[in-house]
This record gives sequence, C-alpha cells and structure tokens, in this order.
Amino acid sequence: MKKYQLLFLMLYLALCVNQSHQRILSQKHDAKKIDEQFLHQKQNVIVSKDYELINLVKVTGPFAIPSSIRRRELCDGSTNPNLEPICGRPLGLKFNPVTCDLYIGDAYFGLLMIRPNGGTAQTLISSVERISFKFINGLDIDSSAGVIYFTDSSTTFQRRYADFLSKSTDNSERLLKYDLHTKNTSVIYTGLMFPNGVALNKNHSFLLVAETTRRRILKFYLGANNFEPEVFAELPRVPDNIKMNDKREFWVALNAGRLGKIDDDVPNTIGIKYDQEGRILKQLDGNNEDVFSSISEINERGYKILG
Ligand SMILES: *[C@@H]1O[C@H](CO)[C@@H](O)[C@H](O)[C@H]1NC(C)=O
Ligand SMILES: *[C@@H]1O[C@H](CO)[C@@H](O)[C@H](O)[C@H]1NC(C)=O
Repeated sequence: MKKYQLLFLMLYLALCVNQSHQRILSQKHDAKKIDEQFLHQKQNVIVSKDYELINLVKVTGPFAIPSSIRRRELCDGSTNPNLEPICGRPLGLKFNPVTCDLYIGDAYFGLLMIRPNGGTAQTLISSVERISFKFINGLDIDSSAGVIYFTDSSTTFQRRYADFLSKSTDNSERLLKYDLHTKNTSVIYTGLMFPNGVALNKNHSFLLVAETTRRRILKFYLGANNFEPEVFAELPRVPDNIKMNDKREFWVALNAGRLGKIDDDVPNTIGIKYDQEGRILKQLDGNNEDVFSSISEINERGYKILG
C-alpha cells in the first residue's frame, strides 16, 4: 500500500500557466500542500515532503518551522513517522487574507501561527479541556469574525497511527472553533469519524467538513445555534482536504491508496468538484496511476495543483 508515501505532482490543466517559476519550485520541493496569498506580500507557502514550510517566492531556505523542538538534522528529509512528534506534521494550511499571517493545523503541535516574515511558529493552542491534541488536521479561517474552524481527527490515535484510526469505530471526534480575539477554544460538534479537511463557503454561512471513515462531506450551518450537520456529499473514496476556488466551488481531494482497501469496481476518482449545493461539477480520473494514490489537496487557481 502506498499510504504515507508522499507522491506529489502538479497538473496544469488550464491554459494560463503564467506562474512558471512557481511550478518549477513546486516540483523541486515535491509540494504536499500549497496555500497562496496574492496580497502585496505575495506569500506562497507549501509544505514540502519533509514537512518544512517553504516560501515559493523567496526561496532562500525554509520559510518557517512549526516548533523550536524540530531538529533539522533529524527531520530534514525524514519520512519516518516515528519522528513526527518532534518534527511536526502540518496538515492544514491557510493564510489570513487580512493580516497575511499563516495558520497551520499541525497534527502534533496543534494550532499554530506564523507571521508574514516566517520563523518559528507560535502555538495558539495545543490542548483543549486539558487534553493535548494528538491529531489536529484541517482548518479554515473566517477572517471577518476572527474565527478558525479546525478538526481534531482523533483523541486516541496520533497521526502516525492513522491506519488504526481508520479501522476504529470511534465516532466521538470533534470539530472545534478558535476565537482569535478571546483566544477561547470551543467544541462545535462531537460525533465524527476521523474528521479531516474543512472549508468555509464564500460568505461564511456554512462550513464543509470531510469525514474520512464514513466517506462523506458534512455541511454545518454556522448561523444556527445548534450545529447539526447535513450530508453534503457521499464519496466513492476517502476524502482528505477541501478547498474552495475563486468561483465558490469546492474541490474535494480523494485518497485512493491510503487508509483502507478500496473496491476494485469503484471508479478511480481522485478529486471531485462540487457547487455550493453539493452537485457534482467535475471529476478527475487518476487512470489507476500510482502517482495519484495519495492526493491530499486540490487547489484551483487558473491551473491546478494536486498534492
Ligand atoms: C469558551 O469556551 C468554552 C468551551 O471550551 C465555553 O464553555 C465558553 O462559553 C467559552 N467562552 C466564551 C467567552 O466564549
Ligand atoms: C450566503 O451564501 C449562501 C450559499 O451560497 C446563500 O444561500 C446565502 O443566502 C448567503 N447569505 C448571505 C447573507 O448573503
């Protein structure tokens, strides 16, 4: 099985590949995830295969590190899951479009923030109700309200034991909310099985949450006081991250080769694009190629990057 083998590639489907320097740098660094910022600072940060954060524009070495305990001599180039607790494992990545601060959901270190100039991340929270996080995952920011929504994939298993998590019947995992002003963390919803990527819609009226084990996307209306989700989409494979594009559509990355056996008769879909009502707009076919077996995120910005 190709789980955690970090295979990443870029697909430039559209015509306007005018950021050619970006493409080259992304390939060089085996980009896992990318988040882009087109404000004046032109920050473009990716997570490389050894979990460093790299600025694509000013490639003068690492842009930032998730924790001061991360040791370069151990962590650089490492794909050893047992080193993750000291190397970190950034899973969610999002710029605050107002401040250009970068927010990171790191599986081990929790919710982190990096200033536009990079450096060592500040830890915003690493525990809730006095229990340290084991597996912080996706996040998104409502910058107008100053709220970060993020998922805690497991209170039992660390990320390096995701295989056990995907086989467990634990359905008590959480969607959380962090208030940037009050610095308060609250639990929005408990009862998820391996929650993963999250994405707000454009006007922040709802939040999509990928539920890995149940292979579906849930929709939480944020205006309501009770956060009872409805099912937004059922999926052929396990989902990872969800990213909204400029047209307010959502790309869901699907994992073919990770986290459990897949029936052979399921089409080899590696990504699905939905409109705001959950209607399928487009499906990407992996043509059964191994390199597409662990797509973690799809960003559409005129061109596409799959990581
Ligand atoms: C802070 O979060 C806790 C739950 O963790 C909640 O009970 C409390 O009401 C929140 N306080 C504020 C001021 O939002
Ligand atoms: C926000 O967007 C949703 C979904 O597109 C729409 O149904 C709703 O009316 C919008 N709300 C506001 C206040 O614009």
